[in-house]
Amino acid sequence: MKDYFYYQDRQFYAEQVSLTELAQNYGTPCHVYSRAALTDGYNQFAQALQGTEHLVCYAVKANPNLAILNIFARLGAGFDIVSGGELQRVLAAGGVAQKVVFSGVGKTEAEMRLALQAGILCFNVESAAELERLNRVAGEMGKVAPISLRVNPDVDAKTHPYISTGLKQNKFGVAYGDALALYQRARDLPNLQITGIDCHIGSQLTELSPFVAAIEKILVLVDALAAAGIRLAHIDLGGGLGIRYHDETPPSIAAYVAALQGALQGRTEKLLLEPGRVLVGNAGLMLSRVEYLKHGEEKNFAILDCAMNDLMRPALYDAYHEILPLSQENHPLDTYEVVGPICETGDFIGHARELAIAPMSLLAVLSTGAYGMSMSSNYNTRPRAAEVMVDGDAVHLVRERETIAQLYAAENLLC
Ligand code: LLP
Repeated sequence: MKDYFYYQDRQFYAEQVSLTELAQNYGTPCHVYSRAALTDGYNQFAQALQGTEHLVCYAVKANPNLAILNIFARLGAGFDIVSGGELQRVLAAGGVAQKVVFSGVGKTEAEMRLALQAGILCFNVESAAELERLNRVAGEMGKVAPISLRVNPDVDAKTHPYISTGLKQNKFGVAYGDALALYQRARDLPNLQITGIDCHIGSQLTELSPFVAAIEKILVLVDALAAAGIRLAHIDLGGGLGIRYHDETPPSIAAYVAALQGALQGRTEKLLLEPGRVLVGNAGLMLSRVEYLKHGEEKNFAILDCAMNDLMRPALYDAYHEILPLSQENHPLDTYEVVGPICETGDFIGHARELAIAPMSLLAVLSTGAYGMSMSSNYNTRPRAAEVMVDGDAVHLVRERETIAQLYAAENLLC
């Protein structure tokens, strides 16, 4: 997907737009998304899944900007949400509730009510206690809640421990061994309707084998459920397909879908997927400016105008994001610690990067479309960056840069 961002005559472009001009017009830091890249990712799923009854539910948490949700909604996507707030975003962006699945271990009563009122496709229930609560809340509203159980298959996703979710010791889903009994309980509850089964084992997976291992375990359960008279309309295999940030070699979307289909062995239940990162990660980058170059005793520092509040992934997971100059100039090449202005040593964007830059140079931090803006904060009273969508030669401001006044508008002095 990185082809939507490319150099021409030593200048970096997004689709047909010069990123230097864009940075000058919209300021930095600024997140830039490519509509063509977003559309391409979704279409790769649609194409690979042709002939299979399916619904691609974009995982909103990866990037919840309304314009992005709207692009996916127009392409026919469903959505995977984890909060009432995400549901409201989906609806505001033109998504339909009937294509929404609701995941998460801590759904509140208010969130359940919102989702029941809207009429979502399915609650992915993650515990026995949640099952009971949902049954009660649905009953109080005179509704029947469609449910899947999110089953924890105890499979090692072989990814960063903070984003691995399918192991016994993780907080997610119901234990594999408890699932059958819980489905039987759900069948007996009057205000629930069993519609499917769900599993999500982690994020940024770069191998197919954990997905296949999870499916094999899920299918054993699907058969056991059928034997107990519980038939499912859909199988939801979650998200998790990784992207290339640096030197990873994740499978393509087509290879991933083929592996899932192979493991599913012609099952006829509708296939639901919840991809997040793979749809948006490499469809976005972040523009930033070098404020200072500082030559320390042991290291050189490039101090940018973006920071860990704009992109938390390096500080949180030691994640790698490529950094490129927007204009390839003949500045001296040097090795830099690329850092932000925040008062923490963890505030870095990249370690030991070779860059030919000067003070005021403009840079792109790549692969920030997923879990970039969505995990940003206002730490150090830093307004959140602007977000811009490029579409061919057109540029849309899809979120204005926050103002300082907005940051403390909801705060009060003592009276
Ligand atoms: N479905 C469920 C239930 C999830 O919990 C997630 C992500 C997804 C789908 C989408 O997964 P994806 O396709 O994006 O891998 N902040 C971390 C990633 C956290 C992922 C949490 N769950 C990061 O920046 O790497």
